[in-house]
Amino acid sequence: MFVGHVGVLVALCRLAQGLPSPRWEVPPDPHVAKIFASPQAIANCPGYAASNVVTTDNSITADLTLAGTACNAYSDDIHDLKLLVEYQTDDRLHVHVYDAGLNVFQVQEEILPRPKNEGAKSSSAQLEFDFVEKPFSFSVKRKENGEVLFDTTGTQIVFETQYVRLRTKLPLDPNVYGLGEHSDPFRLPTFNYTRTMWNSESPFIPTNDNLYGSHPVYFEHRGDKGTHGVFLLSSSGMQININRSDTDGQWLEYNTIGGTLDLYFLAGKKAADVSRQYADVVGYSPMYPYWAFGFQQCKYGYWDVNMVAEVVANYSTADIPLEVMWTDIDHMNLRQDFTLDPERFPLAKMRELVTTLHQRDQRYVLILDPGIHRVGNYSTYVRGHEKEVFLKNEDGSDSWAVQWAGIVSWPDWFAPNTQSWWTDEFNRFFNADTGVDIDGVWVDMNEASNFCHTPKCDENELEGNPPPPTNSPRPNTGRPIPGFPGDFQPTPSSRNSIKARNSKPLSSRQFANGTKKGLQNRDWFNPKYNINNHRGNLSDFTIYTNYTNYDGTRQYDTHNFYGHMMAHTTHSSMLSRRPTKRPLVVTRSTFAGTGRKVTHWFGDNASIWDHYRASIRQMLSFVSMHQMPLVGSDVCGFNQDTDEYLCARWAMLGAFQPFYRNHAEISAIFQEFYRWDLTAAAARKAIAARYQLMDYAYTALYRQTTTGAPMINPLFFLYPGDPATFAIQHQWFYGDALLVSPVTTDYSDTVTFYLPDATFYDFWTHARIEGQAQNVTRTNVSYTDIPLHIRGGAILPMRVESANTTTALRKKDFSILVAPGRDGMAQGSLYLDDGESIEQGGVSDVQFSFDGTKFEAKGEFGYEGKNGESVTVSEIVFLGLKSGSYNGTAGQVVKKGAWKLTGGFTVEV
Ligand SMILES: *[C@@H]1O[C@H](CO)[C@@H](O)[C@H](O)[C@H]1NC(C)=O
Ligand SMILES: *[C@@H]1O[C@H](CO)[C@@H](O)[C@H](O)[C@H]1NC(C)=O
Ligand SMILES: *[C@@H]1O[C@H](CO)[C@@H](O)[C@H](O)[C@H]1NC(C)=O
Ligand SMILES: *[C@@H]1O[C@H](CO)[C@@H](O)[C@H](O)[C@H]1NC(C)=O
Ligand SMILES: *[C@@H]1O[C@H](CO)[C@@H](O)[C@H](O)[C@H]1NC(C)=O
Ligand SMILES: *[C@@H]1O[C@H](CO)[C@@H](O)[C@H](O)[C@H]1NC(C)=O
Ligand SMILES: *[C@@H]1O[C@H](CO)[C@@H](O)[C@H](O)[C@H]1NC(C)=O
Ligand SMILES: *[C@@H]1O[C@H](CO)[C@@H](O)[C@H](O)[C@H]1NC(C)=O
Repeated sequence: MFVGHVGVLVALCRLAQGLPSPRWEVPPDPHVAKIFASPQAIANCPGYAASNVVTTDNSITADLTLAGTACNAYSDDIHDLKLLVEYQTDDRLHVHVYDAGLNVFQVQEEILPRPKNEGAKSSSAQLEFDFVEKPFSFSVKRKENGEVLFDTTGTQIVFETQYVRLRTKLPLDPNVYGLGEHSDPFRLPTFNYTRTMWNSESPFIPTNDNLYGSHPVYFEHRGDKGTHGVFLLSSSGMQININRSDTDGQWLEYNTIGGTLDLYFLAGKKAADVSRQYADVVGYSPMYPYWAFGFQQCKYGYWDVNMVAEVVANYSTADIPLEVMWTDIDHMNLRQDFTLDPERFPLAKMRELVTTLHQRDQRYVLILDPGIHRVGNYSTYVRGHEKEVFLKNEDGSDSWAVQWAGIVSWPDWFAPNTQSWWTDEFNRFFNADTGVDIDGVWVDMNEASNFCHTPKCDENELEGNPPPPTNSPRPNTGRPIPGFPGDFQPTPSSRNSIKARNSKPLSSRQFANGTKKGLQNRDWFNPKYNINNHRGNLSDFTIYTNYTNYDGTRQYDTHNFYGHMMAHTTHSSMLSRRPTKRPLVVTRSTFAGTGRKVTHWFGDNASIWDHYRASIRQMLSFVSMHQMPLVGSDVCGFNQDTDEYLCARWAMLGAFQPFYRNHAEISAIFQEFYRWDLTAAAARKAIAARYQLMDYAYTALYRQTTTGAPMINPLFFLYPGDPATFAIQHQWFYGDALLVSPVTTDYSDTVTFYLPDATFYDFWTHARIEGQAQNVTRTNVSYTDIPLHIRGGAILPMRVESANTTTALRKKDFSILVAPGRDGMAQGSLYLDDGESIEQGGVSDVQFSFDGTKFEAKGEFGYEGKNGESVTVSEIVFLGLKSGSYNGTAGQVVKKGAWKLTGGFTVEV
């Protein structure tokens, strides 16, 4: 969360005026004159000439030499480069242009392990690499149909110490997606569009600006001619421009302030194939616990542990299933990680809270921030200081910045002791026997967000920043909290005073030439190419870019994966607490490959309809293109006050997104679903449907973790030849069979949505509706309704009814819903395991099929259920069978029985 009052006010004013995006007022730095190269200077750049070209069956290498007088447009041209082209697999081509001296920064293998070069033959590969020696340019073509996917001719490559440019031509008005994190249209604008990548705290998720994460991968869709992907493996700050002009046509241009041109071309040719091929490069998502699909509640501003319990109890009373309760920084003592406020969140009471939640089959999640309060009586800091885990100032003292606790030091995730220190803190504080036995953890503020504006930050700048937490306990209500022990009483105590502590000298830092650790002597703060970071200069409001990491690299190059490292380190620490269970770690800041271990929520949105809509497009890109499946936005909105209508719609929308958490900011009104009758009714209905569909969603997640096929499908993924689907960003497929078409107009009860040319069935009424590749308008869509359609041809495994917890849900029998397509046939699958273990005993992976008369279940049947869980199908519902009567349930045939999912079976209709 964010409480920079000035920033919030600026943003609020902007919103009120309808201005596109907040810009923070950054004091100009008198010592740095910004110099921008003129278009002429860039136009005069000489490019490179290829020589010593060596071509083999599966690779091309060459030397690239500056082909004329250096233009030094934004920094110094690098004279000698190398080209490496690898046909790594039949569908993946790797093209790398890098400095011959290997000094330029390259993302460390430990951050992004490179995919294996399987040595495919160029003759059998789907893509073809061609190049021109002088001036050097290259193109990538899809062999099958001759489509030129990437073509750098006409614009010279510029490769300087602090500026790298590569431009490709594209077809006019192309269908380009991805390049997160942003809140821009799903199908990206193709004229005058800029995408900045520089991870930053971004309250109100402004459009056309850099947000919390960097994923330099795009998908380009060319209808029946196929979909391909291009990934630039780079953590450098950058601006990607998509534009066109009469003279130059359409293009996409990378402008980075460092790094190499490390490109992966992914052939597709189906969109879901590109998803898989991207997972092959950056990694596949892990499985998450089954309970992570449960409904979750959080708020910054739950005053004390009693109030947390009250919220849980009030959800029960309102008969709204709550699976996971969260607490924001409220629980901390003086906003310090791994501490509890002794008066408002005393340890004994917190342990009682967690025990009670666990007895009720509910879960608990707490928050961590990266900034470690730099004071001598704070043992987490002291232990970290002694183990030298922090980024260091020039004089060897621990780094200095401002975050929630006040003056903080930044962990250096590269330092050798940082992981063990962090894990040790976990084991102390989150100890199951003596501490807070959390089930999941979220890491916030890890872009990292620094309340200090500039590297010249001093204590005066603390003014206007968040006040230290006040400690007065909330008066005891004197009421018992249903379902909780009777002793929830605040216990006042006094605080320790805070003293500063001296620092140890700087430990030695590694640096050697030729190790890809980054060129020395660059301008760490204001490279001349301006990437238009919306927070100002590179170091504003974050970790100063001149800090050296333990391995000798600079924050200038590694900034964009600081949050990624914190999240992955946290994942290991969670694993050490519960080595056999799948961890749930949710991070605000991300980088390409972060999804290998952890997941993401979309940060500090606002309680406005536009952000309700934005949650759809953000989800679409992250799940299908960035390989982060378990994502979602703060339901009902984080900043500002929501209202019962927006919150009711959002309760329903969020129920069909993977990660489903209601969360609000401290100054916003309370927005738990039970606060309004209308919202509560909407939530009850949506959660019931979500829970009945949970195994279907869990199966879709499992597919993504094993095949890369996304668990959320943009419409064009399933209807690639239908141009009407290419820009759709207000509808999606939950899994690959349930089309969600929410009302997206403010306070409206009408929705116009697109139905592709296929058979669909209304999820709620089971009525059949023939899609005609046209929009359909629905009126009178109440606030407790959301249009959902099952795609004909699908079989959905459901539970016969919902339950209050996922534990109870897993005891319900299955109801299989068969929705035949126009050919009368249908298919689906069900994956079952114990829902939480990393190593599974037996699992089931059941394939369902229906050929018009016979239903069949076959496959792997290894999961037998535990603790009373059901693996029984007690009904199979066939939709649309009786010809002619498609209304309501008239066409429906229900077969009752008891079929055990411990072996295959068939059912005749
Ligand atoms: C391009 O976008 C910039 C920034 O949004 C705007 O100032 C400029 O007017 C736009 N130019 C054109 C030609 O649309
Ligand atoms: C896009 O092209 C237009 C027309 O040539 C130009 O005015 C604008 O500055 C360009 N914008 C970017 C971001 O390149
Ligand atoms: C819980 O419900 C009670 C009774 O409606 C209400 O007075 C109280 O404010 C609620 N508390 C919270 C934290 O929701
Ligand atoms: C970073 O730059 C600032 C401003 O020039 C300077 O005060 C500081 O010592 C530098 N820090 C490091 C770690 O080099
Ligand atoms: C690294 O090599 C460059 C030239 O390649 C040289 O100028 C520089 O001094 C070297 N730096 C170190 C630390 O050896
Ligand atoms: C459906 O309606 C949207 C606007 O609501 C429009 O942009 C789109 O072109 C329409 N699609 C078709 C196929 O008519
Ligand atoms: C949740 O529990 C309540 C109280 O035991 C019960 O009335 C309700 O039916 C349960 N809800 C579901 C969905 O099982
Ligand atoms: C389906 O229902 C609609 C409205 O309820 C009605 O107008 C129509 O005649 C019905 N069609 C069939 C085939 O029953």
